[in-house]
Amino acid sequence: MFYRPEDGHGLPHNPFNAIITPRPIGWISSRSPDGINNLAPYSFFNGVAYTPPQVMFASTGTKHDQDGGKDSVANIEATGVFCVNVVAHAHRDAMNASSAGLAKHHDEFAHAGLTPIECETIPCARVDGAPATLECKLTKIVSLPGEANRVVFGEVTGVHLRDDCLKDGIFDVTSFQPLARLGYRDYSVVTELFSLSRPDD
Ligand SMILES: Cc1cc2nc3c(=O)[nH]c(=O)nc-3n(C[C@H](O)[C@H](O)[C@H](O)COP(=O)(O)O)c2cc1C
Repeated sequence: MFYRPEDGHGLPHNPFNAIITPRPIGWISSRSPDGINNLAPYSFFNGVAYTPPQVMFASTGTKHDQDGGKDSVANIEATGVFCVNVVAHAHRDAMNASSAGLAKHHDEFAHAGLTPIECETIPCARVDGAPATLECKLTKIVSLPGEANRVVFGEVTGVHLRDDCLKDGIFDVTSFQPLARLGYRDYSVVTELFSLSRPDD
């Protein structure tokens, strides 16, 4: 089949997210200007540069108590900092709970039963027990076409790796099994690896 997005897909559910799979999940922690911790998963997330290391996530849509966006973006715009926490399979339910559309004064760490720990390089909380966390300073927020589509870029200023996930100097993803987002209500989990050498190696 072929369709133009503006004409509709004619399927029971939009296949867009099932086409772009698997997507890593950036579990974004931020803090409101009045000191309330915030946590939410964003699967429009990725790394975008090595030197200096940089990441992005995209927020799409609004919530009733924010003017044209979501709490994470509003907080980051106000404070200039945020964290990306990596989601282990063991954290799947807490991650899902943290996606609830709670009022902006609500702390999703508490809602999801998670412990916040203070960061090293920025005034922000990170998820205790996350396999890795990237502390980030905001570099740019870009507005995209459409309503409330915004991309947040940040430079990584601190990297936490859980000691038990390091095996012989390698950050071993099989030790924590990262979660990936698929389409619809589906997720995947990384349990097996294979390696390929690049042609120029
Ligand atoms: C696995 C997962 C991935 C998500 N990815 C995104 C995303 O990339 N962009 C987005 O705007 N919302 C995404 N959401 C929805 C947000 O997490 C949700 O709107 C949340 O309430 C936003 O929280 P905030 O207002 O505290 O930032 C995702 C939800 C889940 C469960």
